[in-house]
Amino acid sequence: MPLNKQTVLITAGPTWEAIDPVRGLTNRSSGKMGYAIATQAVAMGAEVILVSGPTCLVCPSRVRRIGIESAQQMYDAVHQNLAGVDIFIGVAAVADYSPVSVVKEKIKKSANRMTLELVKTPDILSSVGQLQSNRPYTVGFAAETDNVLAYARGKLEAKTLDMIAANDVSQAGLGFGSDQNQLYVLTDDDTQDLGVGSKALLAQLLLEMIAMNVRAH
Ligand code: CTP
Repeated sequence: MPLNKQTVLITAGPTWEAIDPVRGLTNRSSGKMGYAIATQAVAMGAEVILVSGPTCLVCPSRVRRIGIESAQQMYDAVHQNLAGVDIFIGVAAVADYSPVSVVKEKIKKSANRMTLELVKTPDILSSVGQLQSNRPYTVGFAAETDNVLAYARGKLEAKTLDMIAANDVSQAGLGFGSDQNQLYVLTDDDTQDLGVGSKALLAQLLLEMIAMNVRAH
């Protein structure tokens, strides 16, 4: 059981940034990769907390799932549950921007054009990576359409991560919504190509690498 006695907190799925009571901004994340990692972490002996945006997926057994909608709610849920966490894995596709305010009543159609003002959301992964005390081993994800390795390495450094898993989301049939993925795993001094495989298999390979690095940490 390589993750025995380890508590793992995982973020997964998209976020939903409300515009008004019936509309919002979201993205194409299915949550499958984060849920596959949660399932596999339990199988490897970990205690798992899953902070999840809206998905159609069933909560894996023996996982404590905390459902949220917005990026701010995900940030709050992560920080409220971080005590005792050994490993943090940010898999969620968090909205980078959110409407400055939520309109209370449904917006009616009137003018031909309208402008929606957005404000940057808090970077959850970065806030965990930059903790000065009780910082868990911190792993991020980078979904890129080009310059995959260079952008991923930039995020590893900018967000002070221990590890980042990167995938090319421009490839048809892989990544968003699919059961298959393709991952590179980067640390300070190493880049590994895990190749193409099911999200379940890649979750297992990634967690084995994390378990090995946490032991050496
Ligand atoms: N992330 C986060 N909070 C945010 C934005 C992103 O925790 N507000 C995390 C994601 O969960 C992922 C990593 O940061 O683990 C990278 O997300 P990505 O969208 O690829 O990167 P961004 O930092 O948003 O940069 P960009 O969109 O410009 O590529």
